[in-house]
Amino acid sequence: MKDRLQELENDALAAIGDAESTASLQDIRVAFLGKKGAVTDIMKGMRDLAPDERPAVGALVNSLKESLEKAFSSRNSALQQAAVDERISSEKIDVSLPGRQSFSGSKHPVTLVTEELVEIFGKLGFCVAEGPEIEKDFYNFEALNIPKDHPARDMQDTFYVSDDLVMRTHTSPVQIRSMLKQEPPLRVIAPGTVYRRDSDITHSPMFHQIEGFLVDKNVSFGDLKGILTHFLTSYFGDKLGVRFRPSFFPFTEPSAEVDIACVICSAKGCRVCKGTGWLEILGCGMIDPEVFKSVNYDAEQFSGFAFGMGIERIAMLKYGVSDLRLFFENDLRFLRQF
Ligand code: DAH
Repeated sequence: MKDRLQELENDALAAIGDAESTASLQDIRVAFLGKKGAVTDIMKGMRDLAPDERPAVGALVNSLKESLEKAFSSRNSALQQAAVDERISSEKIDVSLPGRQSFSGSKHPVTLVTEELVEIFGKLGFCVAEGPEIEKDFYNFEALNIPKDHPARDMQDTFYVSDDLVMRTHTSPVQIRSMLKQEPPLRVIAPGTVYRRDSDITHSPMFHQIEGFLVDKNVSFGDLKGILTHFLTSYFGDKLGVRFRPSFFPFTEPSAEVDIACVICSAKGCRVCKGTGWLEILGCGMIDPEVFKSVNYDAEQFSGFAFGMGIERIAMLKYGVSDLRLFFENDLRFLRQF
């Protein structure tokens, strides 16, 4: 019996030593110490022994069990440690790898163009002024020589907030606000958001304009042409063709619209300039004496000019963007290009 036990111990220890995973170790444990295991069998066989043999054999079996338990547990810890070591060495983090790049933000093209235009006029002595986007009828229309029932009010489909308040339809009301605040001489550039009930591929109900005006003694239409031509050529290029066409605005007299030679096709004629070779870029004129009257300026003593343009339109021409909606969708793939 003693030899059998010794043999069993040798077999078990060898098997434990060979086990390569905690799972196979568990199988071996069941084979020796489980309910139907080899050691359990021997214990069951004890009842066939003579009573005086039982204590000695019992002691031997117990010490066998103890020695196997010890071997199992130390092999088990060794296998677990090996598994941890293996994970640590295979899951190494390379801290020298470059990280994922984060994108730095960029200015929205409307902001960019606004800043570029403000800078050009800044060098000519113009200061920035701003006005509210919800505007009194008086500033948006009345004081700009657009009385109630004037057909020009239809030209600018207006969002009314109340009888007396509108979402401003243009940046021209900043002219009135500035002139009421200050005496001439005055050189002001006023960028801002404006609103009209208009929405299709080339119109958005919200867009941006930049207004400029200058009031002083002896300001002539020649000054207006000189400053606007300087502005357009310094922004779009030295050799840019510029022409002034007679037009009408209630707040200027005489009025003109300014065209530039098409920057898309170099004035050869294309879809953007509708085959004419010219692009309308801004409205302007000599400030109407009626406007001076509403701000208590003496039209005998002072004269001035004003101009206004759409910023998205300028941005489209400057950066070759063909769809106005891109400016408002804020798709990052578009915005990152600026
Ligand atoms: N306010 C006009 C518009 O929104 C643009 C404009 C035209 C502004 C002529 C001016 C100007 O200052 O003189 O269509």
